[in-house]
Amino acid sequence: MPLLSPRPNHKMSASTQKSAHFYTVEVGDARFTILKRYQNLKPIGSGAQGIVCAAYDSVTQQNVAIKKLSRPFQNVTHAKRAYREFKLMKLVNHKNIIGLLNAFTPQKTLEDFLDLYIVMELMDANLCQVINMDLDHERMSYLLYQMLCGIKHLHLAGIIHRDLKPSNIVVRSDCTLKILDFGLARSAGTSFMMTPYVVTRYYRAPEVILGMGYKENVDIWSVGCIMGEMIRGGVLFPGTDHIDQWNKIIEQLGTPSVEFMRRLQPTVRSYVENRPRYAGYSFERLFPDVLFPAESSDANRLRASQARDLLSKMLVIDPQQRINVNDALMHPYINVWFDESEVNAPPPGAWDQSVDDREHTVEQWKELIYQEVIDYERTHNTLGPGGRGAAGGGGANSSGSSAAAGNASGVVGGKEGSTGGSSTTGSAQDDDSMQYSSNSASSATASAAASGASRR
Ligand SMILES: Nc1ncnc2c1ncn2[C@@H]1O[C@H](COP(=O)(O)OP(=O)(O)O)[C@@H](O)[C@H]1O
Ligand SMILES: [Mg+2]
Repeated sequence: MPLLSPRPNHKMSASTQKSAHFYTVEVGDARFTILKRYQNLKPIGSGAQGIVCAAYDSVTQQNVAIKKLSRPFQNVTHAKRAYREFKLMKLVNHKNIIGLLNAFTPQKTLEDFLDLYIVMELMDANLCQVINMDLDHERMSYLLYQMLCGIKHLHLAGIIHRDLKPSNIVVRSDCTLKILDFGLARSAGTSFMMTPYVVTRYYRAPEVILGMGYKENVDIWSVGCIMGEMIRGGVLFPGTDHIDQWNKIIEQLGTPSVEFMRRLQPTVRSYVENRPRYAGYSFERLFPDVLFPAESSDANRLRASQARDLLSKMLVIDPQQRINVNDALMHPYINVWFDESEVNAPPPGAWDQSVDDREHTVEQWKELIYQEVIDYERTHNTLGPGGRGAAGGGGANSSGSSAAAGNASGVVGGKEGSTGGSSTTGSAQDDDSMQYSSNSASSATASAAASGASRR
């Protein structure tokens, strides 16, 4: 009898079973270890959290986007964001929010857990690649309408985004649009006097910059900034930090009212009140006629004046005077696209706001994220027809994950809800990067997007 004959080992067979469904491929500087059903990977973008590839799903026979989150638990900021985004993607279902198609990890145990892969619908380009094109009114208003529908849907779930920006909005060549991310967690603070590391803040509302309370129409400001940039062809308020950002805003829109100042925290208020006073410019000066699509017809002239009217209602420093999402959807520039099933789609389940307030160690986050992905693998047909969930099949492996489940729920039960309310004065670092996709394929499709907006 051979001395080293391996005894049947459940754990081993379960892991081997899982590995058999994966392969590794180099894409650019990254290495993707993914399910074999996904073929023909091509890098299409990157952000603070990870690298995104286009791929072909041989099971569903459709093109998909796969985002690799490397060590999503590497620090608490990354971890919270990854966890929140993954949970929200599972929850939300709306044509203007990116849809989750699959999720998996190639690692087999919590101890080994490193990477989370998220499979999404593939889009053609992000909005950075489209924003500077000469968009006509039809395309511009359709893109804005879809943004507003997606935002409204998030609001219905209790999610106020606060950090919408072009790099996190993606479009297809048929001019359809989806929001890619879910913004800042309620408890993610952005302190006015603090300048943490490089993130794009150009689209952040005054109440976010100044650390005030906020409500749903905080997201309207970002839509206004995006719309203004589509018209002007350049970023409206390109501040290097919060202070510079604020200066850019008041130089153009004017110093806000005393009544607004009264709502600021004392230190911020004293800074803001001591800035030089600016009268601001009229919207006719800020967005002159020459910037709008050529006025070949009366209809176009009407649309230009409607566009400027909408901008003047969205780019209002004081949220109490700013238009809300429902009224923006009813605005004449937007409501030409109004479709009840898009504007008032069934709301998603309510978002558990306490997730936003959770504080955990890196190890605890690792466990929570691992648990989410294992749960997903177990409840979905991750491998495609014929396969069981990638981690759900094997006896030892699934018992391993239920151990993680027990621990993870212990973590959740132990500590939560430490910071309540909607005030935005924490020290948590918000986190995204200014990197835009440099993929030429997506630029090509971006131009296609700019040339095909009709849907009816
Ligand atoms: N589903 C998708 N379809 C097409 N491009 C995408 C998709 N998801 C991401 N991208 C591209 O990859 C970039 C980075 O993705 P993102 O999810 O924003 O990563 P991060 O969270 O790290 O910022 C996006 O700006 C976009 O250009
Ligand atoms: Mg991003």
